[in-house]
Amino acid sequence: MQARADEDPPGSDERPQKGDLLVFSEGEQEGKLITAANLPAGGPPVHAWPKDPKTSVVRSASRLNEILVIRLDPAELDEQTKARAVDGIVAYSAICTHAGCPVTAWVKSDAGDKEVFKCMCHNSEYDPRAGAQVVFGPAPRRLAALPLALADGSLSIAGNFIGKVGGAQPG
Ligand code: FES
Repeated sequence: MQARADEDPPGSDERPQKGDLLVFSEGEQEGKLITAANLPAGGPPVHAWPKDPKTSVVRSASRLNEILVIRLDPAELDEQTKARAVDGIVAYSAICTHAGCPVTAWVKSDAGDKEVFKCMCHNSEYDPRAGAQVVFGPAPRRLAALPLALADGSLSIAGNFIGKVGGAQPG
């Protein structure tokens, strides 16, 4: 149930914006700022919400704002992905483009030997080294990408989502 609209602070359902910071969206560190040091090399990804640094509002009122952040070997990133990354760290929408389930797994691909993002609803797989292009399953397009920057050791968002967020079919 998401009947909290009246209580949600202004800005909490707006899409991530340039200058937003990233905070953990789950686990023991929920709500805490994500720094580069929080991200293990080679994954798994951390699940995040954008946070407006001016108002301290966490933009968690829309599930479409959930983000996957992962640190990869910079040498493995393709050119376009590298241009949006800092120190091999890349960020994508966590919402599968098939039917809009959250992408939850980091597992070896069914289509190769590398680990990939996987949506367990219908097994779509995305390669975060290559702009989260679809490498397996029914997803019609790649995950939306978020360009990143580093601000005082914390990760920040450098621009809007690139690509469409969310599923193509009702879920
Ligand atoms: S919703 Fe992700 S594969 Fe179908």
